[in-house]
Amino acid sequence: MPAYPDSPRHIAVIMDGNGRWARERGLPRREGHRAGAESVREVADACIECGVDYLTLFAFSSENWNRPAAEVTALMGLLDRFLVEKSKDLDQQNIRLLAIGQLDRLPAKTRGLLDKIMTRTAHHSALTLVLALSYGGREEIVSAARSLAADAAAGTLAPAAIDATLFASRLQTAAIPDPDLLIRTSGEMRVSNFLLWQISYAEIVIVRKYWPDFRRNDLIEAVREYQRRHRRFGTL
Ligand code: IPE
Ligand code: IPE
Ligand code: MG
Repeated sequence: MPAYPDSPRHIAVIMDGNGRWARERGLPRREGHRAGAESVREVADACIECGVDYLTLFAFSSENWNRPAAEVTALMGLLDRFLVEKSKDLDQQNIRLLAIGQLDRLPAKTRGLLDKIMTRTAHHSALTLVLALSYGGREEIVSAARSLAADAAAGTLAPAAIDATLFASRLQTAAIPDPDLLIRTSGEMRVSNFLLWQISYAEIVIVRKYWPDFRRNDLIEAVREYQRRHRRFGTL
């Protein structure tokens, strides 16, 4: 029984501000990423508490590959560690793990860990946790367009048959409902190439706190804010 009726079915989060959190404490940036991993567990728990079905976390963008090599390496190492350490929690919390993004760009070790955990948690049903890794909204849309164009060129698809439903079925999120609520931490008012197609009608909540400080109560407060919104979808 969801303790919070009318909870969003799908929450997407741009987990931002790890670096600034660390800098303000005189720590290296990777300490901010490490602390941010703790927020992930609390927020996933809070989502289950609120009756949310899907939580998508922006963990690494297509553009983040352009950061200094040392930071990219540290982030991939932390991701591996997160996958190894949290793997048991996912079983205990009954969480199914999915990943979207250009996963072939990830190190082979990371891909292997992801594949193993996704297979093992495929039957879990309390929450679907979607990690956006090496993810870019434009890249995802281009890839969907390319797949439709290939079918059209092969003569198996009439261009006139392409509509929004068919287009969405070629996105990596085809089996996932669109986010109802988009949260960005650290106060930045931008989307940074996240889920461009899917957030068309998402309610947006910007939180000033840095991601490592965003915990259970902050998630619940964002859900309450969502519940106060009046979604109109272009109608009255
Ligand atoms: C978010 O924190 C995590 C990633 C983008 C990987 P940042 O690393 O962007 O931290 P800030 O925004 O520089 O503080
Ligand atoms: C967005 O944060 C990407 C992730 C949270 C993974 P960034 O820190 O990369 O975005 P910008 O550079 O502030 O737009
Ligand atoms: Mg940032």
